[in-house]
Amino acid sequence: MKKPILFVANWKMNPGTEKEAVHLAKSFATELKKAKQKIVICPPALFLPALSKIKTTSIALGLQGTAFEDTGAHTGLVSLAQARVYKVSHVIVGHSEERARGETDERVNKKIKYALKQSVTPIVCVGEKVRDDGHEYFSIIQNQVTESFAGLSKKDVTKVMIAYEPVWAIGKDATRDATPEEFYEIKILLKKVLMDAFGLSSTDMPRVLYGGSVTEKNAQAFVESGDVDGFLVGRTSLDVAKSITLLNSYEK
Ligand code: PGA
Repeated sequence: MKKPILFVANWKMNPGTEKEAVHLAKSFATELKKAKQKIVICPPALFLPALSKIKTTSIALGLQGTAFEDTGAHTGLVSLAQARVYKVSHVIVGHSEERARGETDERVNKKIKYALKQSVTPIVCVGEKVRDDGHEYFSIIQNQVTESFAGLSKKDVTKVMIAYEPVWAIGKDATRDATPEEFYEIKILLKKVLMDAFGLSSTDMPRVLYGGSVTEKNAQAFVESGDVDGFLVGRTSLDVAKSITLLNSYEK
């Protein structure tokens, strides 16, 4: 049976207050129950204690990043060991906004291993800055995957999720939306890379999510293509009505 399409909300550094975060999550919980859908919300870590108290089976919680040790001299970071108390089951690693602040594939690799040790699902972001005519973006993504996944076992790789997030399609400065065909091209590339490097077969491929200006308007084409295993959603995930419309497109 095909796994349900995931919806991972990346709230980034939003909303402004804990009160707003709780209100947003509670509104999600009410609407998700009606829509019989489940999502993962990755809020700012500071709001996790409050959000973890909301009684709902429709929302799982995730961190937007992690250190790769339980405790230690890592100013500004939070570890999964600290966050797991608040029912954190997922963690985003290698997001392009983190990479722009200096995150490396080597550190992403340590974080994936650490997340798996903590039994938390890593959502590993890959994506090129520019989609060039010479297809250099293929080797950029291939390198991101092989370096970030170095030393993982075949079994480990099946537990990871990959989010293809072309940098040019992310955020309010996005040049344009990516198309389902562009996503499919990368999914095929990822399959090939993982088959060659880890001996995976097409049945045990990790889930591949799409992220980059996903809205209730453009999601349907990705869903209809049948290739997307989920979405990593930024701005739209701060709007409950739009997110529920997006989730309803899964059923059509
Ligand atoms: P966006 O962000 O949906 O606002 O483009 C997506 C992301 O960066 O994960």
